[in-house]
Amino acid sequence: MKRALFPGSFDPFTIGHYDIVKRGLTLFDEVIIGIGHNADKHSYLPIDERMERVKRIFADEKKVRVVAYDGLTVDCAKKEQAQFILRGVRSVQDYEYERSMADANLQMSGIETVLLYSKSEYAYISSSLVRDLMRYNKDISHLVPTV
Ligand code: PNS
Repeated sequence: MKRALFPGSFDPFTIGHYDIVKRGLTLFDEVIIGIGHNADKHSYLPIDERMERVKRIFADEKKVRVVAYDGLTVDCAKKEQAQFILRGVRSVQDYEYERSMADANLQMSGIETVLLYSKSEYAYISSSLVRDLMRYNKDISHLVPTV
């Protein structure tokens, strides 16, 4: 059973994240979405609301599970028996960040990170962009999965 943990703060979960999970499902038997905590970011939506949203999005997808975790991503991966970490890359900036996380996670645990390039049409979408629109009560329906 090939399992991948897809970690992130998902504050909120976007159609870019959704696309990575869907494409991850063609590579892995199970994708576990891990809602973690980025110590450098102050969260906007409470963890319970983020969990609920993501659970609703994948309610009909048997090969997806959603968990919340505190602490290190590799510890969550081990707990969930995921042999891989799955992440999406949109840009050169993402690449540098992903490279150092992947190196650190591999060194700490032996767990490999699998990176998927985001589709070009989603490359501009970020949770921070969606948060900004939410703050000003703008339409975000084209940026987040419909549930
Ligand atoms: O939404 P993000 O910012 O892409 O998510 C980043 C996240 C939560 C995956 C990252 O900050 C993380 O792994 N946090 C847990 C702490 C950890 O494991 N740090 C070591 C990785 S170098």
